[in-house]
Amino acid sequence: RGREGGGEAVTTAREVAQRIVSGRGLPEETAGRGRAPANIALVKYWGKRDEELNLPVTGSLSISLGPLGSEVEVSPAEGPHDAIWLNSAPQPLTGVFARRASAYLDLFRPAPGYWYEVKARNTVPTAAGFASSASGFAAMARALDDLYGWGLSIRELSVLARLGSGSAARSLQDGFVEWHAGSAPDGMDSYGERLPAEWPELRMGAVVLCAAEKPVGSREGMKRSVETCEFYREWPGRVAADLAALKDAIARKDMAALGTVTEGNALAMHALMAATRPPIVYALPETVAAMRTVWAARQEGLPLWFTMDAGPNVKLLFEAKDEARVRGLFPEVQVVAPFG
Ligand code: PMV
Repeated sequence: RGREGGGEAVTTAREVAQRIVSGRGLPEETAGRGRAPANIALVKYWGKRDEELNLPVTGSLSISLGPLGSEVEVSPAEGPHDAIWLNSAPQPLTGVFARRASAYLDLFRPAPGYWYEVKARNTVPTAAGFASSASGFAAMARALDDLYGWGLSIRELSVLARLGSGSAARSLQDGFVEWHAGSAPDGMDSYGERLPAEWPELRMGAVVLCAAEKPVGSREGMKRSVETCEFYREWPGRVAADLAALKDAIARKDMAALGTVTEGNALAMHALMAATRPPIVYALPETVAAMRTVWAARQEGLPLWFTMDAGPNVKLLFEAKDEARVRGLFPEVQVVAPFG
């Protein structure tokens, strides 16, 4: 798979970034700002065809979380290293957050020894169970675009955001966003695109069951699934069918169809994870209990579905008219209206 096969020219993330921004000079402003929404996949991304460029094996489709996401301010700094802040706290250079941010900034340094100051703020409530790395890298790409005055398109920004974290490709726009897998070795055709659909009644609820650090990160987990799960070969076909069914459900605003595809796709991804060697199981007893609560409520006529990512927390999908009943079942739920 990917860069070992085929004898294609190896493209690095920095080469891709520089191809997009080259010749556009040094900062125009003293600081650039960007913001981006977090997103939750309804049809999941699990598996890369290229580790360096975060190119996915399949497409995926998400919903953006409106005001919940990240804000980033970036400016040139004195050095002799980057200065990285998260929610007003200076981040240790050896910590995971600063190292990931600096590695991303490496793609954009005009020269070695050129430093940045980054002030990142997450507008996702702390430990809400909504991932912030996607919105963080998308906001960072926007902030750099603002700093340098590149004037990049959404599509170019999506490609740049993807180089930080795959799912960030879907965080440049609101609403439903499809990330096209693409087929080009340099990934220029692998970007997020908004679907022309509105669904104001749609709600997403986060149920936090455990705020602890996940045992296996998504990068490591998906690599392991691609390499060792014998069912992985079934996954691309399943995703293609789910994407078609989901787009149809969105076009018809069919909540039952959207819920059925979303829940089934998440469970299929978690089945892949469980069949990976060594196995990856993110669910806790509380996760399974929440799933059973959803199924029992559905049996009694409540149109409620769930999805899960690389962690034990559950996200609920329902419509505004059912919010009171959902809150009755999950008093701790944090509800988001993706369409405002
Ligand atoms: O972009 P990453 O490396 O954070 O991977 C995201 C993986 C999932 O959240 C499990 C699925 C998805 O499509 O967001």
